Amino acid sequence: MFSIYREHTMKILITGASGLIGTKVTQKLLNQGHRLVLLGRDPIRLTEKFGPSVTAFAWDATRDPIPNDALSEVEAIIHLVGETIGTLRWSAETKRAILDSRIKSGQAIAQASQSLSPRLKTLISASAVGIYGNRGNDLLTENSEPGSGFLSDVCQKWESAVSAASADRTILLRFGIVLSEKGGALSKMLPPFKLGVGGRLGSGEQWMSWIHVDDLVEMILWALQTSSINGVFNATSPEPVTNQRFTEVLASTLRRPALLPVPAIALKLALGEMAEETLLVSQRAVPERAQTQGFTFQYPSLVGALENLLS
Ligand SMILES: NC(=O)c1ccc[n+]([C@@H]2O[C@H](COP(=O)([O-])OP(=O)(O)OC[C@H]3O[C@@H](n4cnc5c(N)ncnc54)[C@H](OP(=O)(O)O)[C@@H]3O)[C@@H](O)[C@H]2O)c1
Repeated sequence: MFSIYREHTMKILITGASGLIGTKVTQKLLNQGHRLVLLGRDPIRLTEKFGPSVTAFAWDATRDPIPNDALSEVEAIIHLVGETIGTLRWSAETKRAILDSRIKSGQAIAQASQSLSPRLKTLISASAVGIYGNRGNDLLTENSEPGSGFLSDVCQKWESAVSAASADRTILLRFGIVLSEKGGALSKMLPPFKLGVGGRLGSGEQWMSWIHVDDLVEMILWALQTSSINGVFNATSPEPVTNQRFTEVLASTLRRPALLPVPAIALKLALGEMAEETLLVSQRAVPERAQTQGFTFQYPSLVGALENLLS
């Protein structure tokens, strides 16, 4: 598909290419003719998925350094790895994998980048609005202080590991909840709503910062191709909404009622810390820097985003 960010072809290393976001980013960059090196736990599956023009290397983010052969002539790295956060209850082992897959991989990338000659031009890494912690109605821009809690701590350590890299530009994208037609948060919300038994979570007053997956992919390509930008960006739509509003828009898009709120106490009993850190947490982030620096959203409003994804 044609993209306005098409400029010159590059050799780009991608981690997390098999994931929800990585799959779309990889496919788009392949269509633009870039040479891609992919790192993952199952390199054969990566080659089967994306075809013979990609080069894939075996790599476990929780323990391996970046293979030397993967780095030759690489101009840019797009780092999208991360153990899934939205599983049911978090065990101590799950929490360790969530932390290690982000921090150890960030350290491995930073270390690998220091040996590159010529110097790496661009490093783009996922981070998350989880860095802000639970912030009520506060409007969160990139200048807001990080918060507290397990996921905030993970994000702070993740950003700090990646920031040690040697690159002309290091771009940290703090993703909001990524809305996609396949997988991710929306696919978990849909079954009860389709059955007409969906409802707000807890009080419904908590803010949700979301982004349509196509806008996120375009933002990653924009970050790659816009040599004047650098640093931290909230990768969220300009219209965060409360959980109550999200529930109403989702139900009306599906033409179903949303009458059955799920009490916070039930979520906490069933899912523990995971519910408090993801479903009940309030984060009202806005993409101030991306908008100031010229990024435009195809799906700025939730109504348009959900109509597109669910039609
Ligand atoms: N989706 C969201 O709403 C959202 C929101 C905020 C932040 N993020 C962050 O954005 C990044 C990408 O998200 P996503 O939704 O695309 O995630 P995803 O679909 O769960 O994909 C995660 C990717 O990480 C890889 N991975 C996980 N552990 C690994 C390990 N130990 N070694 C090597 N590869 C490993 C997976 O590879 P396998 O195929 O081998 O499992 C997969 O490619 C993650 O860091 C996530 O935390 C996502």
